[in-house]
Amino acid sequence: MAFTSVLDHDIKEILISPEEIDKLTERIAAEISRDYRDSRHLLLLCILKGSVVFMGDLMKKVTIPVEIDFMKVSSYKSGTTSSGKINILLDLHRNDLSDCDIVVVEDIIDSGRTLSYLVEYLKVAGAKSVKTCTLLDKPSRREVDFNPDYRGTEIPDEFVVGYGLDYDEQYRALPYIGILKPEVYTK
Ligand code: IMP
Ligand code: MG
Repeated sequence: MAFTSVLDHDIKEILISPEEIDKLTERIAAEISRDYRDSRHLLLLCILKGSVVFMGDLMKKVTIPVEIDFMKVSSYKSGTTSSGKINILLDLHRNDLSDCDIVVVEDIIDSGRTLSYLVEYLKVAGAKSVKTCTLLDKPSRREVDFNPDYRGTEIPDEFVVGYGLDYDEQYRALPYIGILKPEVYTK
């Protein structure tokens, strides 16, 4: 595919094209639609901000009724090691989750800390069931034992941007997933 944005010159390589992303999203949506066809209350829970583009495409492809909601979290890192502390910046404001089948929608899993924390948090909050969905997975980076229920594709240990994912709040609007040139974040 052709590069189209003024930010393209910061990209070393396009890892996943828009057409490939579309196929991954289509497959995950089909899996969720199949697995939850008997659910009375499916909630797709988007983790802001990185998952917002994926969420928008995924929800359009799901063929059963869904509700959507949003949470925003941040994980703090000290140096190169994760502290493991997750902060909730925007919470789910729902009185009763006891009839909710939640699918948490993430852009990427790295250490696994964010999603493993959120799954426990939502179970403690009383959700009927909690599963997780990620477009991208970097299994080689895992620090906690965690596997998503739905996964688009595994990627190598490279820093990627686009399709919602950022570096320093930039590149989220690129339509593809690209590997950022290391000189962009080492300069
Ligand atoms: P973790 O699994 O708790 O380590 O964190 C996952 C979060 O780290 C994601 O939601 C992203 O915000 C961020 N992240 C991890 N790898 C990348 C990347 O390659 N590009 C952009 N953000 C990333
Ligand atoms: Mg994120």
